[in-house]
Amino acid sequence: MPKNNDDGVLSKGDFGEVRLEDVTKVYEKEDQCQTVLEGCSFSAQRGKLTVLMGPSGCGKTVLINLIAGYENPTSGRVLIDEKPVTGTGSDRLVVFQETALFPWMTAYSNVIFGCQVQGVPKKETKDRAEFILRKVGLYEFRDKYPSQLSGGMQRRAELARAMINDPKIMILDEPFRGLDAMTRQLMQEFYVGLFEEVGRTNLFVTHEIDEAIFLADRLVILTYQPGKVKAEIEVDLPRPREFHMLASPRFMDIRAQAIDLLYEEAAKAFAAGSKTAYDLVGALTAQKGMCNK
Ligand SMILES: Nc1ncnc2c1ncn2[C@@H]1O[C@H](COP(=O)(O)OP(=O)(O)O)[C@@H](O)[C@H]1O
Ligand SMILES: [Mg+2]
Repeated sequence: MPKNNDDGVLSKGDFGEVRLEDVTKVYEKEDQCQTVLEGCSFSAQRGKLTVLMGPSGCGKTVLINLIAGYENPTSGRVLIDEKPVTGTGSDRLVVFQETALFPWMTAYSNVIFGCQVQGVPKKETKDRAEFILRKVGLYEFRDKYPSQLSGGMQRRAELARAMINDPKIMILDEPFRGLDAMTRQLMQEFYVGLFEEVGRTNLFVTHEIDEAIFLADRLVILTYQPGKVKAEIEVDLPRPREFHMLASPRFMDIRAQAIDLLYEEAAKAFAAGSKTAYDLVGALTAQKGMCNK
Protein backbone atom coordinates (compact mmCIF):
# COMPACT_ATOMS: atom_id res chain seq x y z
CA MET A 1 0.00 0.00 0.00
CA PRO A 2 1.30 3.47 -0.74
CA LYS A 3 2.14 5.36 2.41
CA ASN A 4 0.98 8.91 2.81
CA ASN A 5 3.26 11.87 3.03
CA ASP A 6 3.21 13.40 6.47
CA ASP A 7 3.95 17.03 5.68
CA GLY A 8 0.36 18.14 5.23
CA VAL A 9 0.86 19.62 1.77
CA LEU A 10 -0.87 16.84 -0.13
CA SER A 11 -4.17 15.40 1.01
CA LYS A 12 -4.13 12.08 2.79
CA GLY A 13 -6.23 9.23 1.53
CA ASP A 14 -8.82 11.34 -0.29
CA PHE A 15 -8.32 9.40 -3.50
CA GLY A 16 -10.88 8.78 -6.22
CA GLU A 17 -12.10 5.71 -8.05
CA VAL A 18 -12.76 5.56 -11.79
CA ARG A 19 -15.26 3.10 -13.18
CA LEU A 20 -16.20 2.58 -16.81
CA GLU A 21 -19.48 0.88 -17.52
CA ASP A 22 -19.99 -0.50 -21.01
CA VAL A 23 -18.41 2.53 -22.72
CA THR A 24 -18.69 2.84 -26.49
CA LYS A 25 -17.30 5.69 -28.57
CA VAL A 26 -18.19 6.12 -32.22
CA TYR A 27 -16.74 8.85 -34.44
CA GLU A 28 -18.47 9.90 -37.60
CA LYS A 29 -16.12 10.76 -40.46
CA GLU A 30 -17.80 12.07 -43.57
CA ASP A 31 -20.40 9.35 -44.25
CA GLN A 32 -18.62 6.65 -42.26
CA CYS A 33 -18.79 5.66 -38.61
CA GLN A 34 -15.74 4.35 -36.75
CA THR A 35 -16.38 2.46 -33.53
CA VAL A 36 -13.21 3.21 -31.60
CA LEU A 37 -14.29 1.77 -28.23
CA GLU A 38 -16.94 -0.88 -27.75
CA GLY A 39 -18.40 -2.02 -24.44
CA CYS A 40 -15.37 -1.07 -22.34
CA SER A 41 -15.73 -1.82 -18.64
CA PHE A 42 -13.00 -1.64 -16.02
CA SER A 43 -12.03 0.21 -12.84
CA ALA A 44 -9.03 2.19 -11.68
CA GLN A 45 -9.24 1.39 -8.00
CA ARG A 46 -8.75 3.87 -5.20
CA GLY A 47 -5.07 4.41 -4.32
CA LYS A 48 -3.89 1.84 -6.87
CA LEU A 49 -1.77 2.11 -9.99
CA THR A 50 -3.72 0.75 -12.95
CA VAL A 51 -1.89 0.45 -16.27
CA LEU A 52 -3.81 0.52 -19.52
CA MET A 53 -2.05 -1.29 -22.38
CA GLY A 54 -2.81 -1.89 -26.01
CA PRO A 55 -1.25 -1.29 -29.43
CA SER A 56 -1.08 2.15 -30.93
CA GLY A 57 -4.43 3.25 -32.35
CA CYS A 58 -6.53 0.98 -30.11
CA GLY A 59 -8.25 3.91 -28.38
CA LYS A 60 -6.23 4.53 -25.21
CA THR A 61 -6.09 8.30 -25.64
CA VAL A 62 -9.78 8.40 -26.58
CA LEU A 63 -10.50 6.55 -23.32
CA ILE A 64 -8.37 9.01 -21.36
CA ASN A 65 -10.22 11.92 -22.99
CA LEU A 66 -13.53 10.43 -21.83
CA ILE A 67 -12.29 9.96 -18.27
CA ALA A 68 -10.80 13.47 -18.24
CA GLY A 69 -14.18 14.77 -19.42
CA TYR A 70 -12.91 16.36 -22.65
CA GLU A 71 -15.37 14.22 -24.62
CA ASN A 72 -18.55 12.21 -23.95
CA PRO A 73 -19.08 8.51 -24.63
CA THR A 74 -21.56 7.60 -27.37
CA SER A 75 -23.09 5.14 -24.90
CA GLY A 76 -22.21 3.74 -21.48
CA ARG A 77 -21.02 5.64 -18.44
CA VAL A 78 -17.78 6.98 -16.98
CA LEU A 79 -18.07 7.30 -13.20
CA ILE A 80 -15.80 9.00 -10.69
CA ASP A 81 -16.67 7.86 -7.19
CA GLU A 82 -19.92 6.52 -8.66
CA LYS A 83 -20.90 9.94 -10.10
CA PRO A 84 -21.13 10.27 -13.90
CA VAL A 85 -18.50 12.52 -15.47
CA THR A 86 -20.13 15.56 -17.05
CA GLY A 87 -17.00 17.55 -17.93
CA THR A 88 -13.48 18.32 -16.76
CA GLY A 89 -12.84 18.66 -13.04
CA SER A 90 -10.04 19.44 -10.60
CA ASP A 91 -10.40 15.93 -9.13
CA ARG A 92 -8.61 14.57 -12.25
CA LEU A 93 -5.34 15.63 -13.80
CA VAL A 94 -3.85 14.43 -17.07
CA VAL A 95 -0.15 14.35 -17.94
CA PHE A 96 0.27 13.85 -21.69
CA GLN A 97 3.20 12.45 -23.63
CA GLU A 98 3.90 15.80 -25.28
CA THR A 99 5.67 18.19 -22.98
CA ALA A 100 3.21 20.88 -21.97
CA LEU A 101 5.64 23.11 -20.08
CA PHE A 102 5.52 26.75 -21.12
CA PRO A 103 8.96 27.48 -22.60
CA TRP A 104 8.89 31.13 -21.50
CA MET A 105 8.35 30.30 -17.83
CA THR A 106 10.86 28.99 -15.29
CA ALA A 107 10.34 25.55 -13.72
CA TYR A 108 8.92 27.29 -10.62
CA SER A 109 6.45 29.41 -12.61
CA ASN A 110 5.37 26.37 -14.62
CA VAL A 111 4.76 24.36 -11.45
CA ILE A 112 2.66 27.06 -9.75
CA PHE A 113 0.61 27.84 -12.87
CA GLY A 114 -2.40 25.72 -11.84
CA CYS A 115 -2.46 27.24 -8.34
CA GLN A 116 -2.43 30.74 -9.82
CA VAL A 117 -5.30 29.94 -12.17
CA GLN A 118 -7.30 28.54 -9.26
CA GLY A 119 -6.52 31.55 -7.05
CA VAL A 120 -4.74 29.57 -4.30
CA PRO A 121 -3.32 32.09 -1.76
CA LYS A 122 0.33 33.11 -2.42
CA LYS A 123 1.82 31.69 0.79
CA GLU A 124 0.11 28.33 0.30
CA THR A 125 1.21 28.22 -3.36
CA LYS A 126 4.82 28.88 -2.34
CA ASP A 127 4.76 26.21 0.39
CA ARG A 128 3.23 23.65 -1.93
CA ALA A 129 5.63 24.48 -4.80
CA GLU A 130 8.72 24.20 -2.60
CA PHE A 131 7.54 20.90 -1.14
CA ILE A 132 6.75 19.40 -4.55
CA LEU A 133 9.92 20.72 -6.22
CA ARG A 134 11.99 19.09 -3.47
CA LYS A 135 9.99 15.88 -3.86
CA VAL A 136 10.84 15.67 -7.58
CA GLY A 137 14.45 16.78 -7.07
CA LEU A 138 14.10 20.08 -8.94
CA TYR A 139 14.32 22.60 -6.11
CA GLU A 140 17.86 23.59 -7.13
CA PHE A 141 16.68 24.00 -10.72
CA ARG A 142 13.55 26.02 -10.01
CA ASP A 143 14.81 29.15 -11.82
CA LYS A 144 15.78 27.30 -14.99
CA TYR A 145 13.70 27.41 -18.17
CA PRO A 146 12.46 24.14 -19.76
CA SER A 147 15.12 24.33 -22.50
CA GLN A 148 17.80 24.36 -19.77
CA LEU A 149 16.45 21.14 -18.23
CA SER A 150 17.21 17.58 -19.38
CA GLY A 151 14.39 15.40 -20.80
CA GLY A 152 14.02 13.56 -17.48
CA MET A 153 13.90 16.86 -15.55
CA GLN A 154 11.21 18.19 -17.87
CA ARG A 155 9.07 15.10 -17.19
CA ARG A 156 9.62 15.52 -13.45
CA ALA A 157 8.56 19.17 -13.75
CA GLU A 158 5.38 17.96 -15.48
CA LEU A 159 4.70 15.52 -12.65
CA ALA A 160 5.26 18.35 -10.16
CA ARG A 161 2.90 20.60 -12.09
CA ALA A 162 0.20 17.93 -11.89
CA MET A 163 0.83 16.98 -8.26
CA ILE A 164 0.71 20.53 -6.91
CA ASN A 165 -3.01 20.61 -7.73
CA ASP A 166 -3.47 17.64 -5.41
CA PRO A 167 -5.83 15.73 -7.70
CA LYS A 168 -7.67 12.66 -6.42
CA ILE A 169 -6.82 10.91 -9.67
CA MET A 170 -3.66 11.20 -11.77
CA ILE A 171 -3.93 10.13 -15.39
CA LEU A 172 -0.72 9.71 -17.39
CA ASP A 173 -0.88 9.09 -21.13
CA GLU A 174 2.47 7.61 -22.24
CA PRO A 175 4.36 10.22 -20.23
CA PHE A 176 7.83 8.74 -20.84
CA ARG A 177 7.50 8.27 -24.56
CA GLY A 178 10.40 9.73 -26.50
CA LEU A 179 12.91 9.55 -23.64
CA ASP A 180 16.10 7.58 -24.28
CA ALA A 181 16.13 4.09 -22.76
CA MET A 182 18.28 4.90 -19.72
CA THR A 183 16.36 8.09 -18.81
CA ARG A 184 13.11 6.21 -19.27
CA GLN A 185 14.19 3.53 -16.79
CA LEU A 186 15.28 6.16 -14.30
CA MET A 187 11.94 7.94 -14.71
CA GLN A 188 10.04 4.68 -14.14
CA GLU A 189 11.98 4.12 -10.93
CA PHE A 190 11.43 7.71 -9.84
CA TYR A 191 7.73 7.70 -10.70
CA VAL A 192 6.98 4.40 -9.00
CA GLY A 193 8.81 5.58 -5.87
CA LEU A 194 6.74 8.76 -5.89
CA PHE A 195 3.53 6.76 -6.26
CA GLU A 196 4.52 4.48 -3.39
CA GLU A 197 5.25 7.52 -1.23
CA VAL A 198 2.35 9.86 -1.94
CA GLY A 199 -0.24 7.41 -3.26
CA ARG A 200 -3.25 8.68 -5.27
CA THR A 201 -5.28 6.73 -7.76
CA ASN A 202 -3.09 6.53 -10.87
CA LEU A 203 -4.15 5.48 -14.34
CA PHE A 204 -1.05 5.07 -16.51
CA VAL A 205 -1.10 4.41 -20.25
CA THR A 206 1.79 2.73 -22.03
CA HIS A 207 2.47 0.18 -24.74
CA GLU A 208 5.85 -0.77 -23.24
CA ILE A 209 5.37 -4.14 -21.60
CA ASP A 210 8.19 -4.11 -19.02
CA GLU A 211 7.28 -0.55 -17.99
CA ALA A 212 3.65 -1.64 -17.55
CA ILE A 213 4.42 -4.63 -15.32
CA PHE A 214 7.13 -2.84 -13.33
CA LEU A 215 4.70 -0.06 -12.37
CA ALA A 216 1.28 -1.71 -12.13
CA ASP A 217 -0.93 -3.09 -9.42
CA ARG A 218 -3.24 -4.18 -12.23
CA LEU A 219 -2.84 -4.35 -16.01
CA VAL A 220 -5.83 -3.73 -18.27
CA ILE A 221 -5.17 -4.96 -21.81
CA LEU A 222 -7.24 -3.53 -24.68
CA THR A 223 -8.05 -5.14 -28.01
CA TYR A 224 -7.33 -3.39 -31.31
CA GLN A 225 -10.25 -1.80 -33.20
CA PRO A 226 -12.67 -1.68 -31.67
CA GLY A 227 -11.02 -1.25 -28.29
CA LYS A 228 -12.48 -3.34 -25.51
CA VAL A 229 -11.02 -4.95 -22.44
CA LYS A 230 -9.36 -8.20 -23.48
CA ALA A 231 -7.99 -9.18 -20.08
CA GLU A 232 -6.94 -7.86 -16.69
CA ILE A 233 -3.85 -9.12 -14.90
CA GLU A 234 -3.19 -8.60 -11.21
CA VAL A 235 0.49 -7.73 -10.72
CA ASP A 236 1.33 -9.14 -7.31
CA LEU A 237 5.00 -8.17 -7.25
CA PRO A 238 5.91 -6.69 -3.86
CA ARG A 239 6.32 -2.96 -3.23
CA PRO A 240 8.57 -1.04 -3.15
CA ARG A 241 9.31 -2.03 -6.72
CA GLU A 242 13.00 -2.40 -7.52
CA PHE A 243 14.71 -3.01 -10.83
CA HIS A 244 16.10 -6.40 -9.89
CA MET A 245 12.44 -7.61 -9.94
CA LEU A 246 12.54 -7.43 -13.75
CA ALA A 247 14.61 -10.62 -13.64
CA SER A 248 12.42 -12.42 -11.07
CA PRO A 249 10.51 -15.58 -12.03
CA ARG A 250 7.17 -13.92 -11.12
CA PHE A 251 7.91 -10.95 -13.41
CA MET A 252 8.78 -13.33 -16.27
CA ASP A 253 5.64 -15.30 -15.63
CA ILE A 254 3.40 -12.19 -15.78
CA ARG A 255 5.28 -10.97 -18.85
CA ALA A 256 4.70 -14.26 -20.68
CA GLN A 257 0.94 -13.99 -19.95
CA ALA A 258 0.82 -10.36 -21.14
CA ILE A 259 2.83 -11.11 -24.29
CA ASP A 260 0.44 -13.85 -25.36
CA LEU A 261 -2.51 -11.48 -24.94
CA LEU A 262 -0.85 -8.49 -26.57
CA TYR A 263 0.77 -10.28 -29.47
CA GLU A 264 -2.55 -11.07 -31.10
CA GLU A 265 -3.68 -7.44 -30.84
CA ALA A 266 -0.35 -6.00 -31.99
CA ALA A 267 -0.43 -8.34 -35.00
CA LYS A 268 -3.89 -6.96 -35.92
CA ALA A 269 -2.58 -3.41 -35.63
CA PHE A 270 0.46 -4.42 -37.69
CA ALA A 271 -1.76 -5.81 -40.43
CA ALA A 272 -3.62 -2.46 -40.41
CA GLY A 273 -0.28 -0.71 -41.05
CA SER A 274 0.57 0.85 -37.69
CA LYS A 275 4.26 1.75 -37.41
CA THR A 276 4.26 1.42 -33.62
CA ALA A 277 2.59 -1.98 -33.94
CA TYR A 278 5.40 -2.97 -36.31
CA ASP A 279 7.93 -2.15 -33.58
CA LEU A 280 5.80 -3.90 -30.97
CA VAL A 281 5.37 -7.05 -33.05
CA GLY A 282 9.15 -7.13 -33.60
CA ALA A 283 9.83 -6.74 -29.88
CA LEU A 284 7.17 -9.26 -28.89
CA THR A 285 8.38 -11.82 -31.44
CA ALA A 286 11.85 -11.59 -29.93
CA GLN A 287 10.42 -11.90 -26.42
CA LYS A 288 8.12 -14.78 -27.35
CA GLY A 289 11.17 -16.54 -28.74
CA MET A 290 12.96 -15.94 -25.43
CA CYS A 291 9.99 -17.15 -23.37
CA ASN A 292 9.50 -20.30 -25.42
CA LYS A 293 13.10 -21.43 -24.91
N1 LIG B 1 -11.52 13.24 -32.51
C1 LIG B 1 -11.48 12.13 -33.26
N2 LIG B 1 -12.23 12.01 -34.36
C2 LIG B 1 -12.20 10.92 -35.13
N3 LIG B 1 -11.42 9.84 -34.87
C3 LIG B 1 -10.64 9.89 -33.79
C4 LIG B 1 -10.61 11.03 -32.92
N4 LIG B 1 -9.72 10.79 -31.90
C5 LIG B 1 -9.23 9.55 -32.15
N5 LIG B 1 -9.77 9.01 -33.26
C6 LIG B 1 -9.47 7.66 -33.81
O1 LIG B 1 -9.56 6.73 -32.75
C7 LIG B 1 -8.58 5.69 -32.91
C8 LIG B 1 -7.83 5.51 -31.60
O2 LIG B 1 -7.00 6.64 -31.37
P1 LIG B 1 -6.17 6.85 -30.03
O3 LIG B 1 -7.06 6.78 -28.86
O4 LIG B 1 -5.39 8.11 -30.22
O5 LIG B 1 -5.18 5.60 -30.02
P2 LIG B 1 -4.03 5.24 -28.96
O6 LIG B 1 -4.41 3.90 -28.42
O7 LIG B 1 -2.78 5.13 -29.80
O8 LIG B 1 -3.94 6.32 -27.96
C9 LIG B 1 -7.72 6.09 -34.08
O9 LIG B 1 -8.12 5.32 -35.20
C10 LIG B 1 -8.03 7.55 -34.30
O10 LIG B 1 -7.93 7.89 -35.65
MG1 LIG C 1 -2.41 7.66 -27.44
